[in-house]
Amino acid sequence: MSVRIVLGAQFGDEAKGKIADFMSASARYVVRSAGGPNTGHTIVLPEGPVVLHQLACGVLRHGVTGISGPGMVIQPFKLEEELQGLEKRGLLRGEVVLSDRAHVILPLHEIEDVWEDELRGRHRPAASLGTTRSGIGPAYADRAGRFGIRLAELSRPAVLRERLELLYATKTHLTGLPPIDEVLGRLVEVGGRLAAYIRPTEQLLWDAVARGESVLLEGAQSALLDLDFGTYPYVTSSHPTSAGALLGSGIPPTELDDVVGVAKAYSTRVGAGPFPTEDTGERGEFLRRVGGERGATTGRPRRCGWLDLVLLRYAARLNGFTSLAITKVDVLGGLERIPVCVRYQMPDGSTVHDALPTSADDLGRAEPVYEQLPGWPEFHERLKERIRREGATALPSDLRRYLDFIEQETGVAVEYVGYGAHRDETVWLGPPSARPRPASMTAWSG
Ligand code: IMP
Repeated sequence: MSVRIVLGAQFGDEAKGKIADFMSASARYVVRSAGGPNTGHTIVLPEGPVVLHQLACGVLRHGVTGISGPGMVIQPFKLEEELQGLEKRGLLRGEVVLSDRAHVILPLHEIEDVWEDELRGRHRPAASLGTTRSGIGPAYADRAGRFGIRLAELSRPAVLRERLELLYATKTHLTGLPPIDEVLGRLVEVGGRLAAYIRPTEQLLWDAVARGESVLLEGAQSALLDLDFGTYPYVTSSHPTSAGALLGSGIPPTELDDVVGVAKAYSTRVGAGPFPTEDTGERGEFLRRVGGERGATTGRPRRCGWLDLVLLRYAARLNGFTSLAITKVDVLGGLERIPVCVRYQMPDGSTVHDALPTSADDLGRAEPVYEQLPGWPEFHERLKERIRREGATALPSDLRRYLDFIEQETGVAVEYVGYGAHRDETVWLGPPSARPRPASMTAWSG
């Protein structure tokens, strides 16, 4: 009986798919509200790992409806493959609904994405964003420019032809585009096969909320990749924030109950852009190896580093986090000391505590100031078994202190802890309000 948002608090890849899947057990609807095939939400089911790109994780559960919402940009051919892949494995258990307002990523958008990023790179190598090359930026640009095509249009060939011709007329800078007739034919075909899933979703959700059913909005990408509030221009082209999740689903802000921010116990970033706590040495390599830090969509190795509380405080304020999920704590198991960035020292002598410098260049010059916190033991199977049996009380005491430190420093309670890739390796610490708030900001340091 609630509307909840779960979203990434860092640069993406916080294992939010796993937390969303955990939370979806008590949801009736799960809605993806932004992004498209740039997303890769990995969920490890007893049957094996599943990577969801354009479907909401609700489609994996009986009795749940997974909605790909109006704020998304959808590549219909890839979406069809995703559906078929799940069907073949017998994992398509929930209902699938696709918003008729979601925009379509066309082959020309994918070509344009590559063209644009190469243009940036030729202008200045560091200006290349390292996009996922899945056409996200160009598709959102056409949406804003009113040249876009929506899923609703796939079942109207005459309108679709006219929209395609207009869109093609704006792309004279691109070469090698597939002919309009070919694209039209393929779109009409795929539209026919997807027609059973495509419908208005806002009414469906308003009615669900009015009946008191639980709706989970599943964020994709993350706060620091937000088009306005992220590390512009090294961002994605949507709004992966709590405000964006509402806009991208059509649910009014007055219905919102809580916002869960998901952060790894350390940090990663894939693609270009400033990353103050990046560790390019052996310890970063350790995080990459032990954490399996490779992009679920592109396979690119992720850049790795330490938890950045400046950025987490910023994300908490921006999104109004009511609680946090801290994931992948098992990856840090066995380290003697764990650096955590508590503030930035800027070249002009000022310090930054909870803000994101507007200029990516300034963020690139921030010097992180670390506290070293004591580590916890390795997460052997025996320890995991105990946590599964006994719950949060079985978490190692130094890990509890790490989580307390995060709570004290951000002012947001930790509600979930992820300690492995599997679906059941998440522990709930209880409702945030039921636990005593941390007393002091300076209780201890390592
Ligand atoms: P785009 O979203 O493909 O345009 O890529 C823009 C930036 O966002 C690039 O740096 C990507 O690596 C990053 N990005 C996009 N989607 C994800 C994601 O799901 N996880 C992490 N990074 C992402």
